[in-house]
Amino acid sequence: MQLTANHEHMPPGHETRPALGFSSDNIAGASPEVIEAIAASNVGQAAPYGADEITARVERKFSELFEREVSVLLVPTGTAANALCLAAVTPPWGSVLCHPSSHVNNDECGAPEFFTGAAKLVPVDGPSAKIGIEALRAAARMKVGDVHSVQPSCVSITQATEVGSVYSVDEIAAIGDVCKSASLRLHMDGSRFANALVALGCTPAEMTWKAGVDALSFGATKNGVPAAEAIVLFDTALARELAFRRKRAGHLFSKMRFLSAQIDAYLRDDLWLRNARQANAMARRLMLGLQAFTCIEVQGEPQANILFCRLPSALIDALLAQGFTFYRDRWGPGVVRLVTSFATTSADVDHFLDSVRRAVGCNSQ
Ligand SMILES: Cc1ncc(COP(=O)(O)O)c(C=O)c1O
Repeated sequence: MQLTANHEHMPPGHETRPALGFSSDNIAGASPEVIEAIAASNVGQAAPYGADEITARVERKFSELFEREVSVLLVPTGTAANALCLAAVTPPWGSVLCHPSSHVNNDECGAPEFFTGAAKLVPVDGPSAKIGIEALRAAARMKVGDVHSVQPSCVSITQATEVGSVYSVDEIAAIGDVCKSASLRLHMDGSRFANALVALGCTPAEMTWKAGVDALSFGATKNGVPAAEAIVLFDTALARELAFRRKRAGHLFSKMRFLSAQIDAYLRDDLWLRNARQANAMARRLMLGLQAFTCIEVQGEPQANILFCRLPSALIDALLAQGFTFYRDRWGPGVVRLVTSFATTSADVDHFLDSVRRAVGCNSQ
């Protein structure tokens, strides 16, 4: 695996007009290589339901990537990956210990509860959207053996988190140790797996199974793929059950080759890492540029591709009026969230910074 330098990767149509959207990494298109791979896979016949050659290749690639045998099941959304993973490691009377601000807790419309057969999601707080280790130790022991209470069954962490922070390998290993000693399974929502990986500079194995992760939702859609995510199981004994669960959930694609072609291209020539490096670098460029303005309070350093800062409301209004998009005020008055993606270019960031510079009442230091 090669960790390469940034690239300025522009999907067709993106070259002439600067992109104005910083609301989410979901608003970007897909990498041309991935679209070309879908078209290239559209040749002749292929065995259905994942019995095709591209799917087999993707499974081999994941085993190489993670330096051990893994089981892989492709699905079209991150919610499906998360909910199915959690269902495989949590009985209906179990609980999923997760951060209060996690996607599984807030943004999946009850899919984890639905697919687990109504297991309970129990929030375990901690700073920067990361589960606190002491709080986790306490939650892991909560009412164990009490027939009147749900039983702690699994921990779900998000890497990178919903606010762009990243668990260090040691932090994941500490959570893994708690899981091991309390017989809990560890799930990782890796919707932004690549962003976290390049931020840490570790290997996929170090960030997952070597630190105790049993099941991973390996995200790709936010980082250059139209619609494909991979469930990666380090405990391969879970694969049989998950295969039935995926079908029963309506997520077993008959023309699986088209999902597999996306992931195949995503993993080829380190596209996934190059894309993530670009997204992270653009968040850093934004941070450095915004730090120069006295009227802007940049909140922390982005570890991945999400930046928070507090702006005067007149400036927010002016930027939104110019067509820039981003979320405001959800995290406090005047706080905006800026998300970059693989498709964000230096020119996009500089255009945003120029617009800030020209806006009313904002002086550069
Ligand atoms: C942390 C996290 N997990 C999972 C997802 C996957 O969501 P979706 O089902 O929309 O693909 C998202 C998307 O916003 C996310 O931010």
